[in-house]
Amino acid sequence: MPRILIQFAHPTLSKSNVQKILEKYCRNVKGVTFNDLYEYYPDLYIDVKREQKLLLEHDIIIFQHPFYWYSSPPILKQWQDLVLEYNWAYGPEGNKLAGKKIFNAVSCGGGREAYKETGYNRFSISQFLLPFNQTAHLCKMEYLPPFVVHETYTMTPEALDLHGRQYAHVLNALARNEISPEHYRNIEYLNELAAIHAES
Ligand SMILES: Cc1cc2nc3c(=O)[nH]c(=O)nc-3n(C[C@H](O)[C@H](O)[C@H](O)COP(=O)(O)O)c2cc1C
Repeated sequence: MPRILIQFAHPTLSKSNVQKILEKYCRNVKGVTFNDLYEYYPDLYIDVKREQKLLLEHDIIIFQHPFYWYSSPPILKQWQDLVLEYNWAYGPEGNKLAGKKIFNAVSCGGGREAYKETGYNRFSISQFLLPFNQTAHLCKMEYLPPFVVHETYTMTPEALDLHGRQYAHVLNALARNEISPEHYRNIEYLNELAAIHAES
């Protein structure tokens, strides 16, 4: 069964509302390893060998983080710069990550309408995440649509809890190998799989 590695990046988790709930739900999913990057590396000094070993031990990698300035908190960039080494992750002999799945699980203040061509952010979440998508492609990984929680500033506790349960649902389905490419080929967000699986 696929093993899931969550690369978690929140610089101020003690002040978090949304990611804290997602964390609570995903820590309970069997087959998930939760790697809190800021907890391990508060000074951004990444242990490359530890991180590469974790990557090798898992089949599905998730970058879970709040959306900050249309991207991730900086530790994920530092992590990419140091861990994804030439001829390890990419390059002619860099096949260590080939075939693994990867996606971003993000929370953002803006609503879904804001992330449209006509909205005030002008571009979609997937367009902002293109550097992650292409990095995955270069590493011969399969990049899946993101899991997205919108409108974090106005969310009720009930709505937040529902997102947590949907996230756990998607993770459980991935961990049980119940999700295949035809399920996510034409969807914008992985959130939609929670609904599909709940119906079937
Ligand atoms: C430094 C900073 C930058 C942010 N940038 C964005 C952004 O670009 N787009 C957006 O929709 N929300 C943005 N937000 C809102 C956060 O994404 C939102 O507060 C967070 O996902 C909520 O999760 P949390 O409760 O776990 O912190 C930003 C917040 C901060 C503090």
